[in-house]
Amino acid sequence: MRIAIGSDHGGFRLKSEIIEHLKKKGIEIQDFGTLNEESCDYADYAIQVAEAVVTKQFDFGILVCGTGIGVSIAANKVPGIRAAVCGDTFSAHATRQHNDANILALGERVVGTGLALDIVDIFLSSEFEGGRHATRIGKIAEIEKKYSK
Ligand code: RB5
Repeated sequence: MRIAIGSDHGGFRLKSEIIEHLKKKGIEIQDFGTLNEESCDYADYAIQVAEAVVTKQFDFGILVCGTGIGVSIAANKVPGIRAAVCGDTFSAHATRQHNDANILALGERVVGTGLALDIVDIFLSSEFEGGRHATRIGKIAEIEKKYSK
C-alpha cells in the first residue's frame, strides 16, 4: 500500500506522528510537505496529495491541518477526489465503506494523537462496499462533470 501525506503548519506535528506510525507498520509513505511549523497555505499541500492520489500513483492520501477542513475543501476541488474529514473511528470506517473516500483529512487541533492513529488504521483497512454506494458515487462524478469546463 502506498500513501501520500501532506499538511500545513497546523497539522505538521500530527503528520509527523502518522508518518512514524505507518513506517513502523511497513507502509510506504511519501511526505509532500510542509516540512516545518512555519506558517504556510494548506491548499498548496492539499493539491499535491490530491493529484498524486487521483493519478493513481498512491492508493490513498492523508491530509492534516488545524481542523482538517481547509485541506479537505481544497482536495475536494480535484475531480475524482473524495476527501473526508474524520474525528471518530465510526466515520473513518463508514466513509471507506459508503463513500469510497480516497483521502482522509484530520485536524491536529481537534483529535489527539492516539485517536488520530486509530482513525488512520481503520480508514486504511476498511473496504468500499460498492453496489448502491457505487451508484451514489457515480452521481457525484456527474456533478463534477456538469460543473467542469
Ligand atoms: C491554520 O491556522 C489553519 O487555519 C489551518 O490549519 C486549517 O485549520 C484550516 O482549515
